[in-house]
Amino acid sequence: MVIILNFGSQFAHLIARRVRDLGVKAEILPFDTPASEIQKHNPVGIILSGGPASVLEKGSPRPDKPIFKIGIPVLGICYGHQVMAQMLGGKVAKGKHREFGKENLAIKNKSGIFQTLSSKEVVWFSHGDQVSALPKGFKQTASTIGCKYAAFADLQNNFYGIQFHPEVTHTQHGEKLLKNFLFSICKAKKNWRINSVTENIVAEVKNEVGDRHVVVGISGGVDSLVAATLIHRTIGNRLHAVFVDTGLLRKGEVEQVASYLRKNGFRQLHVIDASPLFLKRLKGISDPEQKRKIIGHSFIEVFEKAIKNELKKHTIAYLAQGTIYPDRIESASTSKTVAKIKSHHNLTLPEKMGFKILEPIKDLYKDEVRRVGLTLGLPRELLWRHPFPGPGLAVRIVGEITEERLQILREADSVFIEELRKAGEYEKIWQAFAALLPVKVVGVMGDGRTYEYVIALRAVDSIDGMSADWHKIPNELLEKISSAIIGKVRGVNRVLYDITQKPPATIEYE
Ligand code: XMP
Repeated sequence: MVIILNFGSQFAHLIARRVRDLGVKAEILPFDTPASEIQKHNPVGIILSGGPASVLEKGSPRPDKPIFKIGIPVLGICYGHQVMAQMLGGKVAKGKHREFGKENLAIKNKSGIFQTLSSKEVVWFSHGDQVSALPKGFKQTASTIGCKYAAFADLQNNFYGIQFHPEVTHTQHGEKLLKNFLFSICKAKKNWRINSVTENIVAEVKNEVGDRHVVVGISGGVDSLVAATLIHRTIGNRLHAVFVDTGLLRKGEVEQVASYLRKNGFRQLHVIDASPLFLKRLKGISDPEQKRKIIGHSFIEVFEKAIKNELKKHTIAYLAQGTIYPDRIESASTSKTVAKIKSHHNLTLPEKMGFKILEPIKDLYKDEVRRVGLTLGLPRELLWRHPFPGPGLAVRIVGEITEERLQILREADSVFIEELRKAGEYEKIWQAFAALLPVKVVGVMGDGRTYEYVIALRAVDSIDGMSADWHKIPNELLEKISSAIIGKVRGVNRVLYDITQKPPATIEYE
């Protein structure tokens, strides 16, 4: 495997994904992980990621210096390139001007990471500081007009530094460069394949759980579904799955997921219809934070009660969760990787009951979870669903939640999604849904005036939900969707398309 030291979470994740896509296992560790700890993983190479800090600031992050004595190749990218130069005796200075965006790189030495590349390459820069003097034993290997030491190398020790980002797609031959580092310099083996990943997880679960029982919560989402399917494949009906129907899920979601699981042999599937309880507790509540709290607490209460029921019949040792890799890796600033429990899974029960936590997909990225799902035979339709928030439709109905409003929203959302799927637009969009605005407006239908709700459609392009742009649905399709909603959904006489970016708007309405 290759270790990536995390100087900025977004950068580290992108590098790890690229490395894994090339077939090599990549693990992200905090930037200050002791060299002795890194050695325990037996890595073939180390990558120092980019990050938002400046090496010129006091107290900026540094790796453990003995990592340069382990005797394995090191690649420093952007911040990692500067920190390596500085720690090994070179100098870093504030650049005269910031380089940001595409730059032409002139390659002076086509060995090492630059083998098989051209003498001129387009690369992507984003930095203010730059290396101004090289450490002893290092040579300049590439430059740009504004940056003399855009790349350097100590070929003897296999240390490489690059000021630009090979992990972004704007760097034309970034993948080739990473390949050179992995296979030609680190001599990494190509053994991170999704089939073997699946087999390894199954073996690990078998080994860990033995003949004991496990309980898992199903949310309707991809992660819990894949985690549950993997465990079920391993231990069969010693897996007890609990699916809480809050009444706030999308149209047909509970039935679709539950019937899939039943058809695939889940005998211990307990679908709890808690919608009357949720509706009762949400009655008259329009404050978004209060809604969230009520939903969170009620969910835990119902879930725990269901588990206690199971405990009367079986001795259960584990609570399984669909935690995935990005959930666990915190930002570099805290320098600690911690296992975070997803907020809507934040139960008190594991401690009280002495449950151990089982997280079979904790090392996978979302796209890997989906590919594991495919190898397990899960249908694409369930695996490629857009993200859905824990509080469900409650954050898509502005104001009070009533059965009538839920019914209208579920229908409108379902028509919207169906039209997107039919037009082949659904998989181009990161997240799409309908929201209900709690105002009634005037319309005209036939000879009469109508006085009905407004539906807002939201469809966004995003990478991680942190920022988003509104998706440009073709006008003809928008028109079709609007007519279909008005035609099929009673109680709506106006459809709006939301053209706000995040920020300033959020993706959800509450
Ligand atoms: P916002 O609305 O904050 O959403 O721009 C960003 C992403 O997070 C999802 N989201 C949630 N997910 N519990 C969740 O599990 C929540 O309370 C929650 N609120 C928002 C949202 O769907 C989007 O993908």
